[in-house]
Amino acid sequence: MKKNSSLRNFWYSMSSKQRFLIRKMYYLPIDFYDRLTGNYHKYVPPRGYIYTGSPASYKDYIKQGEQQLGLLKSEIDLKPSDRVLDIGSGIGRTAIALTSYLNKSATYEGFDVVPLGVKWCNSKIKKDYPNFNFRYISLFNDLYNKSKLKASEFTFPYEENSFDKIFSFSVFTHMQIDEIQNYFSEIQKVLKPNGVAFSTFFLYDDDSESLLPSNKGFDFSNKKEGYKLMSDKVKSANIAIHNDKLKKMLESENLTLVKIIDGFWKGEKDKKIEYQDIVIFKKNS
Ligand SMILES: C[S@@+](CC[C@H](N)C(=O)[O-])C[C@H]1O[C@@H](n2cnc3c(N)ncnc32)[C@H](O)[C@@H]1O
Repeated sequence: MKKNSSLRNFWYSMSSKQRFLIRKMYYLPIDFYDRLTGNYHKYVPPRGYIYTGSPASYKDYIKQGEQQLGLLKSEIDLKPSDRVLDIGSGIGRTAIALTSYLNKSATYEGFDVVPLGVKWCNSKIKKDYPNFNFRYISLFNDLYNKSKLKASEFTFPYEENSFDKIFSFSVFTHMQIDEIQNYFSEIQKVLKPNGVAFSTFFLYDDDSESLLPSNKGFDFSNKKEGYKLMSDKVKSANIAIHNDKLKKMLESENLTLVKIIDGFWKGEKDKKIEYQDIVIFKKNS
């Protein structure tokens, strides 16, 4: 589907149920054809189910997950025996790649606010990998879930100091400031001392701010205090945060910023490793 801003806004203005139905119908012929010709993988959802981004062929979906795994290995030294938490686990893109990397002594926990992805992952991945566990948590997000429960008040259902690594791909780009602040506080609780977190964001600073509105399809025109929203109507559509604000948010939870790796979403692709900006931070010992 073409991604210019008016089409994007129209797409986001529909309910998640409507979007799911349209996506399913749109991809039905190709999903059917792939099934008939054996062009599928048992862990990869049909294109019509992939609500988390641009639907891809099973080979591309696996490749995207492998790219995410590569980043976790190179940037936070993910180890095969690590206990990991995947915030916003979606429909298994990262988890599929992790099945062939994490060993049996590792544990993978993922949670998400959309039941479709969690059900898919538990029925396909957990079935073969019992050390992988996916939870549905019903929380409000105006793009995905109409629940009355707030992400800004959510307590992660895991023991304190229990994860070596925590990551989230393209999740904090769909959440509000108070929600992200609460997730930082929860990450601080459930990470082990010296544990490391990896999250992607859309970040800007005073110099790059002027680039944002001109970036085709990514028009963050709703300016707030230290952040910008793509849409005031669907607030979770996408959020860009000023670097200084993000740094203060981490500091106030006593999390240490390790590094920011610029993504190429603002335009210049040269030598950049990922579309969104990557933020690595850690819990002190
Ligand atoms: C763009 S998708 C990315 C999914 C997955 N991380 C991936 O890389 O394929 C964003 C995901 O964040 C989830 N999400 C949104 N708000 C959330 C929240 N408050 N807590 C956990 N997950 C959330 C959405 O349901 C969706 O699955």
